[in-house]
Amino acid sequence: MNEQALIATARAMVADDKGLLAMDESNGTCNKRFAALGIPQTVDQRRSYRELIITTPDLGKYISGLILYDETIRQQKKDGTPFIKVILNAGIIPGIKVDIGSKDLAGHPGEKVTEGLDGLRDRIKEYALMGVRFAKWRGVICTDDSLPSRGCIAANAQALARYAALCQEAGLVPIVEPELLMDGDHTIHQCSDVTEETLRAVFKELYLQNVMLEGIILKPNMILPGLTFKVQESVDDVADATIKCLLRNVPAAVPGIAFLSGGQAAELASSRLNAMNLRFKSRLPCGVAFSFARAIQQPALEIWKGDEANVLEAQRALLHRAMCNAAARRGEYNADLESCVQSNS
Ligand code: G3H
Repeated sequence: MNEQALIATARAMVADDKGLLAMDESNGTCNKRFAALGIPQTVDQRRSYRELIITTPDLGKYISGLILYDETIRQQKKDGTPFIKVILNAGIIPGIKVDIGSKDLAGHPGEKVTEGLDGLRDRIKEYALMGVRFAKWRGVICTDDSLPSRGCIAANAQALARYAALCQEAGLVPIVEPELLMDGDHTIHQCSDVTEETLRAVFKELYLQNVMLEGIILKPNMILPGLTFKVQESVDDVADATIKCLLRNVPAAVPGIAFLSGGQAAELASSRLNAMNLRFKSRLPCGVAFSFARAIQQPALEIWKGDEANVLEAQRALLHRAMCNAAARRGEYNADLESCVQSNS
């Protein structure tokens, strides 16, 4: 393991107010999002959509790294240029999702564990040879009156730590993503308690597996009430609860926190990230950034709708969300920025 190279990559992933763009939806998830908009669910449409994303002019001004999916990393632009070359030429660090999804956890009805450890060492080696410098693994936790179980948290935490150790062995920075889903009617306090318990379990396992904390990026959920809970806290209350939870549970050695968006509306995700940086930046030991998929992609996908004629407008929308989230990292995002979309072309 080259510790200095890992540390340099992890720092570069959260440097200069930039963040990560996750475009690593599995084919199933990508198809589901296409189907909702009437876009044909074919390999070629997925390829065209991913080409739209990676060829967005100036994307590297706001995006430090792109998280790809196995199908995508092997694809090329229409003119034959490999995607990975396009990404590197744009000054963006390529990364890859390496888990193979969450499956039912035996003995724990209603809970999931993420799979993909078998053969992972060889898959990571292949990705590293392709030029990939970081990876992602997402563990999924659900909550309600009786969940999550300790068994579910423990199984996911251990898988995350074993994945992280394998990544660092091969020189890739692991994005460690324990996600408490927003679905449900839990309170913000319940979200905070479960996230806290999960983060403690994850860091305990990372220590046990000798993962070097300076060479990881943590990708947590924000601290939010469940989507269907009757009280939805203000942006500032969410920012306060989130930073309080992270300050208590994330060791200061971790160089970056990059939130998932989890299905939040794009503008709300930017506002909440902004409030965290505006209210707490001077007290944060590490960069507080973004690693959004839907909260960056969704407006662009809705414009594109599978039609070549909409590519430029969709790229403008994508760049706009990237720009807004970079502004949120500086605590400079506000509603006026939302009207600047046309000027980013
Ligand atoms: O693993 C989840 C993705 O990388 C982030 O997706 O921002 O749509 O939650 P999201």
